[in-house]
Amino acid sequence: VAAAVEGIRRLARHVSDFPQPGVLFTDLTPVFADGPALRSIMRALAAPVAGRVDLVAGIDARGFLLGAGVALELGTGVLAVRKKGKLPPPVHGEEYALEYGSAALEVPAEAIELAGRRVLVVDDVLATGGTLRASVDLLERCGAIVETVAVVAEVPGLGGRERLDGVGLHCLTTV
Ligand code: PRP
Repeated sequence: VAAAVEGIRRLARHVSDFPQPGVLFTDLTPVFADGPALRSIMRALAAPVAGRVDLVAGIDARGFLLGAGVALELGTGVLAVRKKGKLPPPVHGEEYALEYGSAALEVPAEAIELAGRRVLVVDDVLATGGTLRASVDLLERCGAIVETVAVVAEVPGLGGRERLDGVGLHCLTTV
């Protein structure tokens, strides 16, 4: 975890007033573009749940970058939890409010069996928690057991942690 945190702290970029005035955007692009930092992040996200999950769910879109790598570390498959309208029907969906605007997330209703699967949910940033709360609710409604939510970075003070109350949460660092 120490190597991952060092890479995040050194390489993350903080952009004021993006995508809207008043929002401080944390851009992890340079972190993910760095080989050793990416590798240490994959390992740090996977290690706490090794042997305890059957599937990794990566959240649209930056969670996709992490999901497949973490799944490889764990020896599981990966599921892309997608923004509304990207998956062919039938789907299960969940609407949510974002720090800016609103959206919905979807997973296949028939293409894969989620009932009883132990899932690790992965994303880059926890801010207000709307995205991850909706992801957890959606997966649980499909019968999955959400083992842990793992994120690279938490933005404190926006209520994300509180919103995920009752869910196992693993954040590598705060930004
Ligand atoms: C960002 C980020 C998280 C979410 C965090 O994604 O990647 O998924 O916002 O915010 P929250 O905790 O307030 O819900 P975004 O919705 O911008 O989508 P993108 O990854 O497709 O750009």
